[in-house]
Amino acid sequence: MGAKIIGTGSYLPDKVVTNDELTRIVDTSDEWIVKRTGIRTRHLLEADEMPARMGIAAAEAAIAASGTPADAVDLLMVATNFPDMISPGSAPFVAAGLGLGQRPFFDLKAGCSGFVYALTVAAGLIDAEVYGHILVIGAEALSRVTDWGDRKTCVLFGDGAGAVLLGPGTHSEGVLGSSLHADGNKAMLLHLPAGGTRTPASHATVDAGAHFLKMEGSGVYRSAVPMMETATREALAAAGLTLADVDWLIPHQANIRIIESLMRRLEVTSDRVIINLDRVANTSTASIPIALDEAVRDGRIVPGNIVVLTAFGAGATYGAVVVQI
Ligand code: UT7
Repeated sequence: MGAKIIGTGSYLPDKVVTNDELTRIVDTSDEWIVKRTGIRTRHLLEADEMPARMGIAAAEAAIAASGTPADAVDLLMVATNFPDMISPGSAPFVAAGLGLGQRPFFDLKAGCSGFVYALTVAAGLIDAEVYGHILVIGAEALSRVTDWGDRKTCVLFGDGAGAVLLGPGTHSEGVLGSSLHADGNKAMLLHLPAGGTRTPASHATVDAGAHFLKMEGSGVYRSAVPMMETATREALAAAGLTLADVDWLIPHQANIRIIESLMRRLEVTSDRVIINLDRVANTSTASIPIALDEAVRDGRIVPGNIVVLTAFGAGATYGAVVVQI
């Protein structure tokens, strides 16, 4: 049995922060940020907003779009790297907000590739007839782990959530192919040092800013393009398709230069690529489902389209999924 995307949804916080506003807190410029990243604005949570609210709102939109009652959801998966609480994560709060009762849920942590990992796992569970309907959410409150004094990272990220509801389909529709990889040797390229069990939070870790995300940007940059190219080609091969069959490519929205370099390698032109990072910046696991939902809602992606979703991120994880919408 195949797994079909039967509804999409997304949520972005109301607060929009421009590059010019960031020049008031760090030594940067709109020109540098646009030229080096393509980012112009990002949506950020207010201090009193609960991150799980983003996942709940995105999921409610996906359920409504599917025309399927929320009751039909058999399993909830929240792909996130920075959950509401280290324990019990984000999924319990999202499940409670959605009224999912006693249905199972879990968080899935796989860097910015978390959504393509979760989609692959969910499709496998539907294919094996373990569950019928699975809600897959990518949600990230990056502003809560960003060092707002570090210009190398704080200009890059945004908050948001995206969701898809997967249901049973046939093998010729829905999730058609997938490729997942990771390289643990590169784990330290992007990491948050303290607050886990290796280095528990303490006054000293907070004083050292070790509760903020650290990134070796150029190392991540160099790996990103070959990783997404490999995964895209492998996922298409697994689906028995070629790049000529692809209507839309949705790459992880991290940096316009990474996306353009990937497009050149794959020989895919901009009229077949969904890009929203200029408005929403890098929202990690939420980036692909937000871009997917926006393109479905504005009519660029239509039923029957073949779409490739590809990502890379902390871990170093990478992967791609081919879906027929
Ligand atoms: O979801 C996965 C997460 N991460 C990523 O996808 C990030 C991937 N990496 C990147 O996108 C890029 O590496 C960055 C956008 C982070 C940085 O671009 P870059 O072209 O690799 O710049 P760089 O780190 O080599 O820095 C160049 C210069 C440095 O100054 P010096 O040493 O040459 O004097 C930086 O200090 O740019 C400086 N710089 C800035 N200047 C103004 C770094 N950040 C800023 C900034 N504003 N915000």
